[in-house]
Amino acid sequence: MAIREILTYPNHFLRMPTRPVTVITDDVHTLIDDMIETMYDEPGVGLAAIQVGSDQSIIVYDASPSEEERQAQVLINPEIVSSEGHQLSENEGCLSVPDFRADVKRAARVRVEGLDRTGQPVAFEADGFLAILLQHEIDHLKGILFIDRISALKREMYKRKRKKQLRQAS
Ligand code: NI
Repeated sequence: MAIREILTYPNHFLRMPTRPVTVITDDVHTLIDDMIETMYDEPGVGLAAIQVGSDQSIIVYDASPSEEERQAQVLINPEIVSSEGHQLSENEGCLSVPDFRADVKRAARVRVEGLDRTGQPVAFEADGFLAILLQHEIDHLKGILFIDRISALKREMYKRKRKKQLRQAS
């Protein structure tokens, strides 16, 4: 397993649509293992393949509250097939959007369908934090970042801050 570099805003690759996985090859398994290792290394609670430079429709996540209970989850070709209600995701953040957090309106409950890492179909419902996490990661597969779901004013503030940060780093 290896830790992969996480692409950050405004890298254009993060805006690319992803393509469904049709065959779960050894390369796909390696990618998944690397994504899990990269997620824990950051640490983060979720990661989409596009964030490490792959355009395949894969997410990994772990909503376990503590390190001792770690349980990495994998979804291939995940889709939100229905959602209901509203909740406020407080202080949402993203490994690809450094040094920024904001409240985001999210659905309260989602139904997700996809494949597990062996290719078996899975379908389940989630609410609370897990529902937020799944919406965030599945957004990544459509080129959507959480900053697209906040007010234009806050987004512009972040963009300016990020530009300045990148200028100072170069
Ligand atoms: Ni993210």
